[in-house]
Amino acid sequence: MTTLRQHPWGVAVRGLGRGLPERVVTNRDLEAVLDTSDEWIRTRTGIAERRVAAPEQATSDLAVIAAKEALAAAGWTPQDLDLLVVATATPDMIFPSTACVVQAALGAYQAGACDISAACSGFVYALSSVAAQIRAGAARRALVIGAETLSKIVNWQDRSTAVLLGDGAGAVALERVEDGAGEGLLSVYLGADGRGGDLLKQPAGGSRLPASAETVAQGLHYLQMNGREVFKFAVQIMGDAAEEALRRAGLTFADVDLYVPHQANVRIIEASAKRFGLPMEKVWVNIDRYGNTSSASIPIALYEAHQAGRLHPGDVVLLVAFGGGLTWGAAVLRWGAGR
Ligand code: UT7
Repeated sequence: MTTLRQHPWGVAVRGLGRGLPERVVTNRDLEAVLDTSDEWIRTRTGIAERRVAAPEQATSDLAVIAAKEALAAAGWTPQDLDLLVVATATPDMIFPSTACVVQAALGAYQAGACDISAACSGFVYALSSVAAQIRAGAARRALVIGAETLSKIVNWQDRSTAVLLGDGAGAVALERVEDGAGEGLLSVYLGADGRGGDLLKQPAGGSRLPASAETVAQGLHYLQMNGREVFKFAVQIMGDAAEEALRRAGLTFADVDLYVPHQANVRIIEASAKRFGLPMEKVWVNIDRYGNTSSASIPIALYEAHQAGRLHPGDVVLLVAFGGGLTWGAAVLRWGAGR
């Protein structure tokens, strides 16, 4: 099998950014409106609080904040971008894409822009796609953004989903470098099993069930999830995905300096780290503060790990995601010295 490493160009990370709504909703706040408890949420999920967007705040608004910060960190202007991709399951609208909204807000008019839909695996899918475009010579500098306002599609009366999700955005600036530069994306692995689509979905609002008074009355515009089944799938697939991405990079779990998993449930994260033989000191966990932000969770976690000084030149970073679709993806990065 051809691996990405055999292509002439490498893809390096040049900057990271994050965009979060100001409003913090704690488990105690939810206790007041739902039949739930802080204790249940903490012990079953690891979540203590989450951010929730303001009524007038859309996904692109958070994406733009993250994008500007990533551009500044890279030392680029919006005009330096050739490509801008947003991974999201909660776009501002079905079309135009959220990426086009962000492109206009940034004034990055020369950049191509589109969204990628792979639910919670969206960031890894977008990273893989943009890296492939860079390697193919279609772009030199690009932004990959994971951005969500899940609070807008959550049924706030459904305790089985409402307590889990949060809003936010993370952005990564990517640049073409000489292959063999010793930094950047070493491998990616993507997978999907559409047979599990019913386990996690937003049934109405698309062409199957266009939005109507009836779909709204039946609550079909809300996110629906079979949590138990997704949990079982997640624990299995995170291991398989991580193993395959590391194999493609010619590395093993012993080489991993930092594991940055999708933040869906701390019990899923701990189970995967145990299977990998990684101590929790090598795992970035921030689900306690943000809940599950779907495609935004990995770039937000990466941003925080960098801010905390946990990423050093030469470090091997393992990203692993899973989500609706069903989808999964893993990527291995070698952290560079920056620009
Ligand atoms: O990003 C990818 C998408 N999502 C995920 O990865 C989520 C994966 N799944 C999970 O994280 C877990 O399955 C959940 C956190 C969703 C649920 O945890 P669980 O340990 O699997 O609980 P459960 O669904 O088996 O429910 C146990 C009990 C039930 O009561 P009974 O039937 O035992 O009486 C639920 O009704 O907990 C009850 N329950 C709650 N109780 C208080 C469910 N949600 C809540 C709640 N507060 N918020």
